Amino acid sequence: MSGYRLTTVETVRERGSWAFTAREGDADREVFLVPCADEPGEAEGSADQPVRAWINRCTHEDQRLYREEVGAVTRGGSVVCPKHGSAFDTCEGSCDNGEAAGTTLRSIDVEVRDGAVFLTDDDLTYLYEGLPDENGDDEGPASSSHLTF
Ligand code: FES
Repeated sequence: MSGYRLTTVETVRERGSWAFTAREGDADREVFLVPCADEPGEAEGSADQPVRAWINRCTHEDQRLYREEVGAVTRGGSVVCPKHGSAFDTCEGSCDNGEAAGTTLRSIDVEVRDGAVFLTDDDLTYLYEGLPDENGDDEGPASSSHLTF
């Protein structure tokens, strides 16, 4: 069993989405978690409900799907792009509508164990919760001490 413990399934479900920043090579990657809404049965609403992780960038243009103020907007089992409204399946990352039709979000490997969500993607190293601060405000990631190398 390995992986960095990100948060709990309950937190993701309550907030609707949850974001973190990770390091991949020389680059920082924004990632967001969403509950996978399509898998019915026992998993629905349980502590081990599936959660998916997606790179926080629309496949159409350089647009965040998860924004710090509002999180990711989900509707009917899809994440909706705030710019042109394309909807991506929360479980599959695929899009069949609008400007981003025919594309799929890049997925990041996570696992749910005992109600917690773990980052298990070998390519990414967890940096901090939330997105990089692009405004240069004091509340930026520099205040975080979660850097691990
Ligand atoms: S930027 Fe997302 S649909 Fe255009």
